[in-house]
Amino acid sequence: MPWKRIAGTDEIGVGEMKQVIVDGAELALYHLDDGFYVTSDICTHRKQYLTDGSLAGHIVACPRHGGTFDVKTGAPASSPCVIPLQTYPVEIRQEEVWIEL
Ligand code: FES
Repeated sequence: MPWKRIAGTDEIGVGEMKQVIVDGAELALYHLDDGFYVTSDICTHRKQYLTDGSLAGHIVACPRHGGTFDVKTGAPASSPCVIPLQTYPVEIRQEEVWIEL
């Protein structure tokens, strides 16, 4: 699978998240205190952008019904979310964030 550069490491502060679109895929980039993580940006409950919600530690909360996911694993963390988010391998290369699509 191809690796793609999606952002510079200085484009997003620790504790923040932002949407990135790569080859038509709507993804969420998270900068946690132990590194960068990437998941699909689309809530598996009813297709809401998670980056419009809130991030607390490694848990993202969907703004629509309040369901949550662990952004490190994509696993649902609370109801009504039950289907995992897709996650992507991340590498930092010379102050750039790359993911494997
Ligand atoms: S759309 Fe995300 S919790 Fe319902």
